[in-house]
Amino acid sequence: MPRFWQPVQNITSFQPLVTEHGRRVFHGEKTGVAACAAKPQSLHVSGLSRILAVMTGTEWWRTAVIYQIYPRSFADSNGDGIGDLRGITNRLAALRSLGIDAIWLSPFFTSPQRDAGYDVADYCDVDPLFGTLDDFDQMQRTAHDLGIRVIVDLVPNHTSSEHPWFQAALAAGPGSQERGRYLFRDGEGGNGELPPNNWESVFGGRAWTQITEADGTPGQWYLHLFDSTQPDLDWENPWVWEQFRGILRFWLDRGVDGFRVDVAHGMIKAEGLPDYTPPAESGSMGGGTATLEPGISADAQSGSDDGDATEAETAPYWAQDGVHDIFRDWRVVVDEYEGERILAAEAWVDPLGKVAKWVRPDEMHQAFNFAYLETPWKADRLRAVIDESIQAFAAVGAPPTWVLSNHDVVRHATRLALTGEHLQGHGIGLDSTGLPDPVVALRRARAATSLMLALPGSSYIYQGEELGLPEVTDLPDSARQDPTWFRTQGQRYGRDGCRVPIPWEAGAPSYGFGPTDASWLPQPPEWAKYARDVEGGAPGSTLELYKLALRLRREHALGLGLLEWVTGYGDDVLAFRNGDVTVIANVGKSPVNVPARALLLASDDFDGSTLFGDTTVWLRS
Ligand code: BGC
Repeated sequence: MPRFWQPVQNITSFQPLVTEHGRRVFHGEKTGVAACAAKPQSLHVSGLSRILAVMTGTEWWRTAVIYQIYPRSFADSNGDGIGDLRGITNRLAALRSLGIDAIWLSPFFTSPQRDAGYDVADYCDVDPLFGTLDDFDQMQRTAHDLGIRVIVDLVPNHTSSEHPWFQAALAAGPGSQERGRYLFRDGEGGNGELPPNNWESVFGGRAWTQITEADGTPGQWYLHLFDSTQPDLDWENPWVWEQFRGILRFWLDRGVDGFRVDVAHGMIKAEGLPDYTPPAESGSMGGGTATLEPGISADAQSGSDDGDATEAETAPYWAQDGVHDIFRDWRVVVDEYEGERILAAEAWVDPLGKVAKWVRPDEMHQAFNFAYLETPWKADRLRAVIDESIQAFAAVGAPPTWVLSNHDVVRHATRLALTGEHLQGHGIGLDSTGLPDPVVALRRARAATSLMLALPGSSYIYQGEELGLPEVTDLPDSARQDPTWFRTQGQRYGRDGCRVPIPWEAGAPSYGFGPTDASWLPQPPEWAKYARDVEGGAPGSTLELYKLALRLRREHALGLGLLEWVTGYGDDVLAFRNGDVTVIANVGKSPVNVPARALLLASDDFDGSTLFGDTTVWLRS
């Protein structure tokens, strides 16, 4: 039996208190007994420091560092310019030496690749672009032999329009069982020539497409929250549930350690599909800005923290209560398997108190913390989101998670120094305002990662961030592939800039991404300096910083966590103790003095006493 709650040093006698929000917190006296039975959310101690207790179990996913592989851009074994599974297998040793615990692979399933594989035409096979099921098995065996767990992506909100289910729905006609697997509706207007409602696609343009029926007449409309080649499934239909149980079992039987669940906040739509106009400032997925003042708002009540938005305030296609029944169903399936398999939710939902619903004990294990990702590089905002995260997840017994970059957002080695408003999913390019000084941006990214990897809980790393890769902002328009770019007629750059194939060897064709010069998105000429063989072993390189942080994180059990804020360094500094490590992050511009203690890690130059701006240090407590 896994131990669910870790002993909390020096804390006992938990007495639940009720806060002004009606949530329970636990106030403890310091005497030194384990707190196993209760479900503490947080512990506040007045005075110089404030302690947030994270009660964790011993399962691997509570503290894991999970590395996201975007297969088409990771490593190409056959020279066609698109990464593949054999390429991943060949490069897994590098990830082992980086020190991560698991990999999550973005989709490699059969797909016409209209949304880079998030448009699945066969959930139980590998697209020939990426290899075969045998290649997957080989990759997974190699990963497991290296002690790396494997998480695959599950895309349940929609299929590809080329999926046989959708093709059958087109052929079968209105009212058929086959149409009932998707969200087909008759149009409005005298002749059904208008879409059934006013919803817009996440990628721009309307969320409905009208088909032509078999007899050549204008027909029904189908819903697609994303591209028109990604029709939404109807999750009110039990047949759909049955199919996905089978898909889960297919991959669980093959030995995967879990699933990252795509659009886990979108699968159920409000009854009647009512009209809805999202707030102008919201980003693509319901998320908000990625720079100055984030306001993520899958529902309109951003700012409240009770997690109980009313139906009227919630976008009718995001965060509907019905999604939770689906995850409970899947949890039963996943729990049938040995070995602590997991479900991780991609749910762009606000506030964190509401995200926590996705990770209640009978639902998923983890949910991405996009509120953290979207927090600007400001000390007060970071402190607040860290507090809120730990409290919100601990309230349901789940670990907090942390993430700074992924394949949908501007890389944090650029984003953290952007000025101006840049909405999530819209991307940036040469014409964007407020592009950053790359030196400042990288310095901040290193400081931010050093802060993140010291936090208790589980962290996600996106391929290439360990090299300090910035967003590519000067991709030629002709190279762009994100459907966002096309559906907005170039009004939004989209996400290609964070998806450029990563460099491995400075002197090799495509910087070692593959055996030829081919690369599905062009790699910038200056990327040789980020190549893994340049950074590996180089003192002060970003790669060596990540390796050190990951090693120390493991040695000092930072993921297991008890986070104790330390005050007294000024408004622009975040300081906390986690076990025997003190972490100090100077998020401002002015240097601050820090106590002389043994240095474990510095994200940039540090003389032992003066901590310059945009720098994080780990000291022995
Ligand atoms: C994925 C995106 C994808 C979208 C539609 C997202 O959450 O991360 O890359 O375009 O879902 O599947």
